Amino acid sequence: MDFENIYIEEENNFATITINRPSKLNALNRRTIEELQVAIAELDEDANIKVIILTGSGEKAFVAGADISEFAHFSVKEGRQLAALGQKNLFNAIENLSTPVIAAINGFALGGGLELAMACHFRVASSNARMGLPEVSLGVIPGYGGTQRLPQLIGKGRAMEMIMTAGMIDADKAFAYGLVNHVTSLEELLPLCVKIAGRISNNSSVAIKHAIKAVNAGFKYDVDGYAVEVDAFGHCFGTDDFKEGTTAFLEKRKADFPGS
Ligand code: COA
Repeated sequence: MDFENIYIEEENNFATITINRPSKLNALNRRTIEELQVAIAELDEDANIKVIILTGSGEKAFVAGADISEFAHFSVKEGRQLAALGQKNLFNAIENLSTPVIAAINGFALGGGLELAMACHFRVASSNARMGLPEVSLGVIPGYGGTQRLPQLIGKGRAMEMIMTAGMIDADKAFAYGLVNHVTSLEELLPLCVKIAGRISNNSSVAIKHAIKAVNAGFKYDVDGYAVEVDAFGHCFGTDDFKEGTTAFLEKRKADFPGS
């Protein structure tokens, strides 16, 4: 697929995907969602890529939401389908990806933009970032998982207030809420994400894949997260990465994980 609305840069063991529709504040139209879906699946297949960083182009927006012009005329059926397909194909796919995905929030992350950031495994923001779920100001609700992931991340009361007021919070408040893990200057945003990506990529990608699965299991109402952890823990004992990690420790050397 030729990408029109995103571009990918690869460096060492990680890839940065930049959403690139700056004239529309990187709003997620159908094409952009499809491109992200394809890019993320391809990068997840690439054994050399240990971490994916997701960001927006320009200095103003990460993503200012789903593209309002595309759904303004939708019927009930089309609205439902928009949310269902988006959740399944992109937002849940990112959350359940084996490769860690970091959202580098470089400006407005609103509506579908904040939902995209929340689907990532964790978030880092620049100090100019503004976050919110303004959907009720448009007569609709968050449909890409926002009503579920925001309370998971910041607690029910705070999420209810953010959703009901349709207001925005700044980066410092997002940090205080636990919505983002770090706040830094815009210039330092990607370097900080790269530094964190470097620390992640020193570890076993197989173990990380299982850790993501086990953590996510705890947020699914019909799955016993502890049981998933037990299975995943046991599975690790049969991997080459486990043999290498434990051997390297006992031999007092740095592990060189084969990734299997
Ligand atoms: N969907 C479609 N287009 C969008 C968009 C969105 N979610 N967010 C911004 N844009 C477009 C604007 O329509 C404008 O396009 P134009 O120049 O062709 O008119 C362009 O991006 C720049 O946005 P603008 O509103 O002029 O910038 P601003 O600095 O005055 O305001 C925001 C910035 C983020 C406050 C404002 O764009 C906004 O409220 N966006 C919608 C946020 C939202 O409700 N998202 C949830 C959608 S479910």
